[in-house]
Amino acid sequence: MKYFLGIDSSTTATKALLIDEVGTVVSVGRSHYSFETPHPLWSEQSPDLWWDGAVSAIGSAFGAGGISPSDVVGIGLTGQMHGLVMLDGDGNVLRDAILWNDQRTQAECDEIRDRVGRNRLIQITGNDALTGFTAPKILWVRNHEPDVYDQTRHVLLPKDFVRLRLTGEYATDKAGGSGTILFDLAARDWSDEVVGALGIDHSWLPKTFEGSAVTGGVSAEASQATGIPAGVPVFGGAGDQAANAVGVGAVVPGLLAMSIGTSGVVFGSTDHPAVEPEGRLHAFCHAVPDMWHLMGVMLSAAGSYKWLREALAPHASFAELDQLASTVEAGSEGLIFLPYLSGERTPHPDPLARGAFVGLTVRHTLAHMARAVLEGVAFGLRDSVDLMREAGAVGEIRASGGGSSSPLWVQIISDVSGVPISVVGTSEGAAHGAAMLAAVGAGAFSDCAQAAAGAVKIDRVVEPSADQSTYEGAHGTFKSLYPALKDSFHTLAEPG
Ligand code: XUL
Repeated sequence: MKYFLGIDSSTTATKALLIDEVGTVVSVGRSHYSFETPHPLWSEQSPDLWWDGAVSAIGSAFGAGGISPSDVVGIGLTGQMHGLVMLDGDGNVLRDAILWNDQRTQAECDEIRDRVGRNRLIQITGNDALTGFTAPKILWVRNHEPDVYDQTRHVLLPKDFVRLRLTGEYATDKAGGSGTILFDLAARDWSDEVVGALGIDHSWLPKTFEGSAVTGGVSAEASQATGIPAGVPVFGGAGDQAANAVGVGAVVPGLLAMSIGTSGVVFGSTDHPAVEPEGRLHAFCHAVPDMWHLMGVMLSAAGSYKWLREALAPHASFAELDQLASTVEAGSEGLIFLPYLSGERTPHPDPLARGAFVGLTVRHTLAHMARAVLEGVAFGLRDSVDLMREAGAVGEIRASGGGSSSPLWVQIISDVSGVPISVVGTSEGAAHGAAMLAAVGAGAFSDCAQAAAGAVKIDRVVEPSADQSTYEGAHGTFKSLYPALKDSFHTLAEPG
């Protein structure tokens, strides 16, 4: 038997996942780490964590599956998007990576709009400048750390740093590349106009590849570290959201992927480079050739529930919190939670948005607060589903990620969105998708749709219940709260 390996360099862990030739997951290895917040709004990580994490997770995956590294015939890479790695001419790391959830670059986003023009930027890249994306981070380093900027010769995304250590090649995939907003969305490559207008040296940018194209082979040094034979092909892979879409089978228009992890994502494939005219949805290249996608991203989905547990019920498990929440009627007796704990992207691109409980009374207990958090995140996801509805058809939703293991939460999300939700039994959709892209590249499947038909397993389908009508009104109230509170959030976030 031959195997394909997917490596996901996420924000909290590196995951290594092995599939066999028919796409079935045979083992997963994980290596956990954390990220730093050296200043308010900052989020950074040492790139070495990703390579060390990959070596350790790969070893665990082989151990757990009883599989020999010499049976691996292809590797696909995925990972957190938008992060900025800066390297000198010898490939040495110049500073810690600035991550996707870093919010320091508001001034640089304004600078990008000034230099390119907001409408032109959206026209070329599909996106407005948001603090999370890569381009404003490059400008931030130029504006604040000129010594680092002057030494820079290469910029890479997180998973592509792992690729460099694995193969010695500077390369990225189309989905990840488009998440920098230095991409011409329709041409699926770097935009000379945007790169030029921002004054970024074009030679710093890696070569770009489709998700199932070969970007290099395992080097002798990486072979020593991992046991995988030198020369095994490493394929383009994709940013984690596009890879997850492949991993749950969202490779045809109308079938949405919803990922309920730390962040919450609603992802819809398109067969042309569709753009939301106001830039409220992200528009990036899909991992599938000739396909693109729209995407709504909320920054604190399961992250909000984790916050609630840590702040108010540190000794309860998530299952116990769910049990408590299930004792409260839909609507949480008029309590509404705004899930903007880390600022927000969709539908309010505002790093200074804040979380809130609105409507508290003496009757409300921890049970109401837990339910209100689950409902507030569902309302936020519904905002993205509504934008996706405006942009085209919404049929089935495929849910994955840690939050999808909660039957109560998936029911609430189905009720709030009014759409049936198929739960795919994986919290490792991205690593699975990366392994599937390698399998497609190596010829084990003819394309991603064929790979998905064989490899994706639906655990259960959840239909909207009678609570749908209760949530219709509550969602209207939820939507009125951010505009009403926006100025207060900004005052609170920037005291004095
Ligand atoms: C997508 C995004 C997140 C990160 C986290 O735009 O920012 O999904 O990729 O993993």
